[in-house]
Amino acid sequence: MYFRIGKLPFLFFPFLLVSVSHVQARHVQQNTAQTSAATQTKDSKQYVGSETCKGCHEDVYKATEQTPHYKMGFQPGAPGKGLNCEACHGPGAAHVEGGGDKSKIIVFENLSMAEANKRCLSCHTYGNEHANFTRSAHASNDIGCISCHSPHHAKTQRALLVEKQPQLCYQCHTEVKAEFSRPYRHRVNQGLVQCTDCHNEHGGFLPKQLRTSAAQDQVCFKCHTEKKGPFVFEHLPVETEGCVSCHTPHGSTNPRLLRVSQVNLLCLQCHTLAMSNVPSQPPIGPAHNQAQKYQACTMCHAFIHGSNFSEVFFKP
Ligand code: HEC
Ligand code: HEC
Ligand code: HEC
Ligand code: HEC
Ligand code: HEC
Ligand code: HEC
Ligand code: HEC
Ligand code: HEC
Ligand code: HEC
Ligand code: HEC
Repeated sequence: MYFRIGKLPFLFFPFLLVSVSHVQARHVQQNTAQTSAATQTKDSKQYVGSETCKGCHEDVYKATEQTPHYKMGFQPGAPGKGLNCEACHGPGAAHVEGGGDKSKIIVFENLSMAEANKRCLSCHTYGNEHANFTRSAHASNDIGCISCHSPHHAKTQRALLVEKQPQLCYQCHTEVKAEFSRPYRHRVNQGLVQCTDCHNEHGGFLPKQLRTSAAQDQVCFKCHTEKKGPFVFEHLPVETEGCVSCHTPHGSTNPRLLRVSQVNLLCLQCHTLAMSNVPSQPPIGPAHNQAQKYQACTMCHAFIHGSNFSEVFFKP
């Protein structure tokens, strides 16, 4: 969907060995428990190929074959053929010679989250999607690739997730779950809108890991294009303060996801008539009678997001 980065090109296969041994090399210094698995990384004889792994781990082999990671080695004719398992687990010769010695192969459970991330990112750092992962709120809080993904035990076909959305996110973000249970909300629980439509779960350069639309605009314009304008008469806060100055993005007890229970109260937060001799700052007004207090401001000022016809946002 959206500006998803295209499929990983096969081009990187020639670099596979290089990239694996590079990560591996850093590994040696950091993790003595894994030393033997990592010592002679330059020697490709330390790689036995996934057919050998299959001999003893047939279940895992078969499960992996059903996932996009089969492309790493099973694809006929692909350079690097046979490397699949060892691209993630490191060279396996010592492990096999040891009759399955667990201390001689990389076991993800024994890695720190940062080390595990590094292994995945050796292939998955591309484009905007994952480029900022190490600085994300997730990585900073020790949430890593395998908190959300499982190469062997995924519950979803797509993206190898440990749980589908939004349940995946609700496992940790319980406060957000409550917000999406409010009477007015984006229909995330029904699958109409996804958390990841608005957020980059892999981190981004905007606050709250928000995505932007393809035109680098606010995340909301991706779907609510008609609010984007440009309008001849802009309502300034839409432009300057953004949609969330008036709306809650997740859910609200107020219709139209408004932050305030009554439209009039919302408008009057900013539009206060100057009551003294002190000249007021814009926005000013309304200068008109406020006695029609039972009428919503938007009865008359209907095109509140901007208009091409009326500077006070009346209907054309
Ligand atoms: C994309 C990286 C990746 C590839 C490729 C991969 N593994 Fe794994 N492996 C992992 C991770 C991560 C775990 C930890 C469990 C999990 O998250 O699924 C794991 C766990 C395991 C386990 C522990 C038991 C289990 O079921 O969790 C075994 C055994 C294993 N892998 C063998 C293999 C074999 C054999 C292959 C090749 C067919 C392979 N792996 C390919 C990343 C990988
Ligand atoms: C000769 C049989 C044999 C071969 C070949 C073999 N393994 Fe193993 N492997 C084992 C045994 C036995 C264990 C230990 C299982 C245990 O202790 O629960 C093991 C454990 C593992 C583990 C840790 C599982 C865990 O419980 O966390 C991983 C990962 C693993 N093997 C990956 C591989 C990979 C990758 C290959 C191919 C390079 C491979 N193995 C080849 C027999 C083998
Ligand atoms: C907080 C949970 C979470 C974390 C942490 C996470 N992911 Fe994801 N990832 C997801 C979800 C959810 C999707 C599916 C998004 C969708 O369906 O649009 C996804 C999609 C993907 C995809 C497939 C789509 C694409 O963007 O190409 C890849 C590859 C991927 N993640 C790799 C990683 C790697 C590598 C890491 C660690 C550096 C990681 N993810 C960390 C949740 C996570
Ligand atoms: C040696 C390179 C390599 C490593 C290391 C690697 N991957 Fe991948 N990954 C791939 C390739 C190749 C694909 C298939 C991409 C495609 O089809 O475009 C892939 C696809 C994926 C996808 C997308 C599945 C989908 O449905 O589109 C996810 C999620 C993913 N990997 C997660 C991980 C995680 C988590 C790790 C670390 C445990 C990891 N990868 C390590 C090469 C790698
Ligand atoms: C394993 C737990 C876990 C999972 C699963 C998880 N998150 Fe998070 N997330 C965290 C933690 C911890 C933080 C950092 C602390 C915080 O801000 O709550 C965080 C931060 C965030 C932030 C940034 C908040 C901020 O204030 O900057 C967003 C956005 C976010 N997560 C969205 C998601 C989405 C979307 C999903 C599902 C695809 C997801 N998370 C899945 C634990 C998780
Ligand atoms: C319609 C777009 C949209 C969707 C869908 C969405 N979010 Fe958000 N989310 C936002 C915006 C915008 C903010 C920033 C709010 C602000 O700055 O006041 C935010 C803030 C957050 C925060 C930071 C804490 C907070 O409440 O301010 C977390 C965590 C979060 N979202 C998680 C999620 C999760 C988990 C889901 C899915 C269950 C989700 N979001 C779905 C737009 C969205
Ligand atoms: C992925 C598409 C998508 C994105 C992104 C999105 N929305 Fe929505 N929005 C919808 C859909 C679809 C509806 C209709 C909801 C329904 O019928 O349940 C909706 C409804 C609304 C409504 C309520 C309309 C009504 O008539 O009650 C408001 C307000 C709103 N969105 C504001 C926002 C804001 C603010 C953002 C950015 C933070 C945003 N939306 C981002 C798809 C999206
Ligand atoms: C100055 C406050 C304000 C800002 C900023 C604002 N809105 Fe609204 N919006 C409202 C009000 C008030 C309503 C309810 C109008 C009504 O009751 O008829 C509304 C209604 C909506 C609706 C539902 C009715 C419709 O017109 O389609 C959507 C969708 C919506 N806004 C999206 C957005 C988006 C997207 C943005 C950011 C580009 C945004 N709003 C910025 C005040 C605002
Ligand atoms: C976040 C603050 C904010 C909110 C909330 C807000 N406005 Fe505004 N409004 C402004 C600003 C700033 C201007 C531009 C004033 C200027 O240029 O002098 C403006 C301009 C206007 C104008 C045009 C005034 C003129 O002199 O041309 C009208 C009409 C208006 N707003 C009505 C409303 C209504 C009705 C609401 C409630 C639905 C509302 N506004 C909510 C900040 C706000
Ligand atoms: C019955 C229709 C009606 C309602 C309801 C209404 N307005 Fe107005 N508003 C007008 C008219 C008419 C003007 C003058 C337009 C002109 O000068 O062209 C105006 C002008 C304005 C202006 C521009 C500055 C000024 O005073 O000339 C602002 C700001 C404004 N209204 C805000 C509000 C707010 C806030 C509310 C709700 C509390 C509201 N209006 C309710 C009809 C209405």
